[in-house]
Amino acid sequence: MALRTIRTLGDEILTKKCKDVKEITPRINELIDDMFETMYDAEGVGLAAPQVGVLKRIMIVDIGDDAPICLINPRIVDTDGEQTGNEGCLSVPGKVGKVTRPNYVKVLGFDREMKPVEVEGTELKARALIHEIEHLDGHLYTEKVEGALMDAEEAAAQEEEEMIQSDD
Ligand code: NI
Repeated sequence: MALRTIRTLGDEILTKKCKDVKEITPRINELIDDMFETMYDAEGVGLAAPQVGVLKRIMIVDIGDDAPICLINPRIVDTDGEQTGNEGCLSVPGKVGKVTRPNYVKVLGFDREMKPVEVEGTELKARALIHEIEHLDGHLYTEKVEGALMDAEEAAAQEEEEMIQSDD
């Protein structure tokens, strides 16, 4: 396993549409292992293959709730509700922005053995799944941010302050 370089905003590869994976080769297995290592090293909750420079429909998510998710050729088949909150991306380091997304999502895809799988999520998990799937079509959350991008540290401090105020 090895850490891969995370491509950042402005890198053209992040705007390209990724190709379907047809079979799991040793090279793709190595890519997936490297993606997990790279995501954990960067303390992210999700990563898509184009973020490490590979235009294939592979994404991973681990919000720390249960088993890490790896999805191949994922597609959204259902959404419900709405949530608005701050979102970040390893390709846009140090920044967050307010994004409105569905509060629930159901995704069909394949696991690392190319077995069909169904993954459902709400709240952060839904947000992460949709965010990573959008990477596979060359889209970044910055395209749908409401207002300006904020400094991640400032936004966290602001959120903490709002929580303290609501406790009064
Ligand atoms: Ni991202």
